[in-house]
Amino acid sequence: MNHAKTAATSVPLHPLLAERWSPRSFDRQYPLTERELLPLLEAARWSPSANNSQPWRFALTLRGSAEFDAIVETLAAGNRAWADAASALVVVAAETAGPDGSPRPWATYDTGQAAAHLSVQAEYEGLAVHQMGGFDRDALADLLDAPAAVTPLVVLAIGRRATADGLAEPFLSRELAARTRRPVEELLLGVDARAEESAA
Ligand SMILES: Cc1cc2nc3c(=O)[nH]c(=O)nc-3n(C[C@H](O)[C@H](O)[C@H](O)COP(=O)(O)O)c2cc1C
Repeated sequence: MNHAKTAATSVPLHPLLAERWSPRSFDRQYPLTERELLPLLEAARWSPSANNSQPWRFALTLRGSAEFDAIVETLAAGNRAWADAASALVVVAAETAGPDGSPRPWATYDTGQAAAHLSVQAEYEGLAVHQMGGFDRDALADLLDAPAAVTPLVVLAIGRRATADGLAEPFLSRELAARTRRPVEELLLGVDARAEESAA
């Protein structure tokens, strides 16, 4: 049966955030259409970006298509082992330079943020997203046939979570393992009070 891996938080979070996690077990029978991916793309589209530059780009592929199979081939072996059961594989890329060639220093930051918005909307739609940085960059860039400034960052496996029993090791253990995070205190940096004095 599907299991929850709800985040253990120090204070309550919105369930869409607390209950999101990255599965390796997807329902191989569950079909998705491009229309059903639209809310996810809208969520990405409306995320903030530096100067509203909106540098995120997406390539959509659905299971059963030759394009989907071609993306699977570019994945690292440890991802290929399970990601082919997803209903969709979506390449997320960043356009790292503007139309005049000027660099966009925040392009990857902005694109990651768009992927985060997409993931939360997916949770709302009853879908799960597993982001994958493990893929052959050159092979994927060739498949996309995109301009040089468009850099693939991750491939998203998107679908319905399924029971873990279909997974082989080591993926089964990873699927069942508890999710962990550093405590909030470890995320906090100090600020030197002298900076405040010199600004005054
Ligand atoms: C940029 C990025 C790259 C990732 N690459 C992979 C990957 O190649 N294979 C994989 O199984 N998980 C990958 N993940 C998923 C992370 O391992 C996962 O988000 C993390 O362990 C936290 O687990 P959770 O999403 O279930 O909370 C990636 C996540 C991100 C954000």
